[in-house]
Amino acid sequence: MDTKAISEVLGERFDVAAGDGSRALKELGLPADAATLDVGTGSGNFAIYLASQGYRVITGEPSTDTSQYAGRDWALNAEKAGVLDRIRFEAFDASKLPFEAGAFDAVFFFGVLHHIDEGVRSEVFREALRVLKENGAVVFFEPRTEMLERVRVDDPGHPPAANPSNYLHDQNVREQRIEGALMDIFLYRKSA
Ligand SMILES: C[S@@+](CC[C@H](N)C(=O)[O-])C[C@H]1O[C@@H](n2cnc3c(N)ncnc32)[C@H](O)[C@@H]1O
Repeated sequence: MDTKAISEVLGERFDVAAGDGSRALKELGLPADAATLDVGTGSGNFAIYLASQGYRVITGEPSTDTSQYAGRDWALNAEKAGVLDRIRFEAFDASKLPFEAGAFDAVFFFGVLHHIDEGVRSEVFREALRVLKENGAVVFFEPRTEMLERVRVDDPGHPPAANPSNYLHDQNVREQRIEGALMDIFLYRKSA
């Protein structure tokens, strides 16, 4: 299934992930066999988008998260999209990732950082950089105003967007920002 066909099955939220996801992937130029980590599974939209582009994806969220955004039926969505075989779920907390250093070509947080407790966001950023290959990238997508307004129709108490740079304490990491249609995209790479 191509992304347009998946959008028809999964709806608007997948469309947002695919639209702004494609802007980031174009910039990254990942190898076809890239190992990707999708932090914060939710309904699986971003993991499904990555898998639809042919990447192997590990995705996860804390098993203890009882919010309305966790424990969603990501696997059913992935099955409908025909990409379930390329996605592996593993429960984890992003502040203590159960992966070896340098395991991933890219680590993605799609609509996730603002849902993570502010007190651990610096640790989460450090962990994402630890599990990243030397030439890899950490990419955060945070909602722009229009997206936040849409989300707050169903969830008036939805937290404001986060700025990942406020939680970056490594001077050897460079940032690039890309304006997405509905999400701001923050891309970080280790300096050579
Ligand atoms: C709005 S959902 C993300 C949407 C999802 N990325 C998608 O594309 O459908 C927010 C996610 O952040 C996750 N999350 C919150 N705190 C976390 C943490 N400490 N570590 C990992 N994930 C976390 C939640 O469990 C939830 O899955």
